[in-house]
Amino acid sequence: MTREATVEEMERRLTLSKVALGEVPPDTLITHMTLFNSHTGEFIKDQSLWIKDGLIAYIGKDSYPGKGDQTLVIDAEGMTVLPGLIDGHTHMVSNRYGIEEFVKHVIPTGVTTVITELMETATISGRDGIEFPVKGFEKQPIRFYYTIPPVCGLTPAEEVMAPSNDLLIPFLRDPQCVGIGEIYWGNIFLDGGQGERVRELVNIALGMGKVVEGHTAGASERKLQAYTDFGISSCHEPITEEEVWERLRLGYWVMIREGSIRKELPGVAGIFKERIDYRRLILTTDGVDPGGFLEEGYLDASLKTGLKMGIPPALAYQMVTINVAEHFRLDHLIGSLSPGKKADLVIIPSPSEYSPRLVMCDGRVIFRDGKSLVEPKKVFFPESMFRTVNVNDSDIPSLPTRGKVRAMELVNRLVTKESIVDLENDEEMKDVISILTKDRLRNGEGFIGFLKGFGLERGAYGTTMNWDSPALIVVGCDQLSMRTVMGRLRENGGGNVYAIGEEVVAEFPAPVCGLISLRPMEKVRSELKRIEDSLRENGVRWENPILTVDTLSTAAIPHFRITHRGYVRLRDRKILGVDL
Ligand SMILES: [Fe+2]
Repeated sequence: MTREATVEEMERRLTLSKVALGEVPPDTLITHMTLFNSHTGEFIKDQSLWIKDGLIAYIGKDSYPGKGDQTLVIDAEGMTVLPGLIDGHTHMVSNRYGIEEFVKHVIPTGVTTVITELMETATISGRDGIEFPVKGFEKQPIRFYYTIPPVCGLTPAEEVMAPSNDLLIPFLRDPQCVGIGEIYWGNIFLDGGQGERVRELVNIALGMGKVVEGHTAGASERKLQAYTDFGISSCHEPITEEEVWERLRLGYWVMIREGSIRKELPGVAGIFKERIDYRRLILTTDGVDPGGFLEEGYLDASLKTGLKMGIPPALAYQMVTINVAEHFRLDHLIGSLSPGKKADLVIIPSPSEYSPRLVMCDGRVIFRDGKSLVEPKKVFFPESMFRTVNVNDSDIPSLPTRGKVRAMELVNRLVTKESIVDLENDEEMKDVISILTKDRLRNGEGFIGFLKGFGLERGAYGTTMNWDSPALIVVGCDQLSMRTVMGRLRENGGGNVYAIGEEVVAEFPAPVCGLISLRPMEKVRSELKRIEDSLRENGVRWENPILTVDTLSTAAIPHFRITHRGYVRLRDRKILGVDL
């Protein structure tokens, strides 16, 4: 903080204390409410809250502090006031809609702070992929914090755009940066440059007082503890009660995920029946896709699910306010309604009915009586983040037609395994199609293999939205359709395309990094729905097949993955071809 800024802040705090003493009138006065104290978990009746310059000056019984002519009085008689909700783990740039669309739709939900990952744009655009989304978060009507993406790829080839640690240090100095984003546990142990870069980044961040976000899916006992030894302090991957217990006992901040990727609350419901300390439990979305957002909601929907399941309201609200703030060391600013904190709040009818009537962020009313009162700020992305599908030819390498070959098989909609199929055995070849990957940033270098179990019976489907990879993936039944898909992805600057022969049947253009649409969320939802419907009509049986293909490239999900150089066996990160 500069000297000037420090002086300004000192004056602001001095004025705030004068408001508490009744010497200076507040900007806003909220009266007659039940106040949720997130520190103690109490709902305290007949409270008042005085706000000045975006900060809370006073909470308590006194309702008349010497009101000024300009003071806005909000009578919250019979209502309950909560701190603004905090989503502690989401992916702003992987759910296909832009930042403005997110802000517009999130305001009515009562979420006033979002802590987001940025790995997707960084994988494609390196430093620009961090800098420009971060600039886009500035001066929005809600508050954003971010984590630095460690860019954890399957192999070094997926990490070509990863900024050097020296380039990342200035971001770590930014007060809006809370630490390092999720590190897949397997990556921290990798030999050579890949693991070394990440381990160094972790140590730099910890040394600067920042947190390091974990990703411990599938790790337990000594492996989990070996990973934790690096200084990792959170995980949003537990899917069973046992996994939650194990991580809580190791000192983790455990994020229960309830969003589009997975909905874990029902599966871990048993933990809420115990008499334990829940202050390290967090409820988060891990991202919500356009369909989920428009039909069910965002973190508000997760919260309502929790309340419906019988989680006591005080605990449910702590899980989306103070607990999150404490984990990210932001509790001196947000997460509670107490003196000196940011005036971020939500007014709801009662503790058991989460239905925002008024939302305030930074002391400004941004939503009231069903209407948003603010507009999102326009976000700018530079030329370098457009036209990122540089696959100049539609060459498709040939595949063998006889003998036994290696294939990637879907065990369920996300998990895969290595499998061997006999090309001359019709029974074994049922539901086997081609899968093509190409490096879309540089030279179009590619690999073609076999995919079993996706269900597609005609045409081809392609995506540039592969997790943790700068490649594009096309899965298809014939070469003509696959070429059409590749050509169209190039024309659109990325996204998703489904084609049969030369005809494009359904598409979703995503020109920013091949990841983000410039269209309204409703339009994005209808484009994606048309793709899903087309895939379903043509044989695919998995729920959310778009996610199935997006995730074939990530080290986050077991067991057998793919890059533009070949299949990758996660166990030893070995690159394997089709031939045995
Ligand atoms: Fe995540």
